[in-house]
Amino acid sequence: MKIKSAGLLESAAGANQFPDLVMPEIAFAGRSNVGKSTLINSLLTRKKLVKTSSTPGKTRLINFFLINEIFCLVDLPGYGFAKVPAEMRESWRKLIETYLSRRDNLRGVVLIIDIRHGPTTQDRQLKNWLDFHQRPMLVVASKSDKLSRGKCASKLQKIKKDLELTHLPLPHSSLNKEGRGQIWKALDGWLTSA
Ligand code: GTP
Ligand code: MG
Repeated sequence: MKIKSAGLLESAAGANQFPDLVMPEIAFAGRSNVGKSTLINSLLTRKKLVKTSSTPGKTRLINFFLINEIFCLVDLPGYGFAKVPAEMRESWRKLIETYLSRRDNLRGVVLIIDIRHGPTTQDRQLKNWLDFHQRPMLVVASKSDKLSRGKCASKLQKIKKDLELTHLPLPHSSLNKEGRGQIWKALDGWLTSA
């Protein structure tokens, strides 16, 4: 995919701020700090389009990025960040759930799992929830540069087993770009499906 243009279209704190669009959309979900925003930058070959941070909880709103004027990539706030007050966590959960259940133009969800840590209970819940709502899903194992090849391979198998997936997750590294082509292939499939 050649990226001709990419920009922030909307930052939404509630469903009334979701842009009214019919063009296809792909969302990125996962625990805080797994690398959702970094993956979007990596896919778009833009270093700083999406704000990233080593401190969890950076993305607090749903950010819609318009790409090539024809589709959107959507960065969701991360879940599972213990330091966020319970009330706020609940409001994020509702925001994410509203988005994922109501968005008609959502073609697929990229669920990101840190390859070192594997899925948490919340990741499993989200996976089951997406299955239940029949949302197409791609699991990406982020930060593959942090482990050796052999260790990566065994972690991918473990994530597949833990999440009861039919396919292995795709590894990704924002440092060496491993997996970028394969991830784009999956996203292209969603974007071009009717
Ligand atoms: P929230 O917005 O808080 O939910 O986090 P996020 O999932 O968007 O994570 P973000 O992209 O901000 O990345 C978190 C940290 O992980 C940053 O310090 C990134 O540089 C680092 N990171 C992300 N992807 C990779 C990767 O593939 N390899 C390495 N080594 N570090 C990564
Ligand atoms: Mg983020």
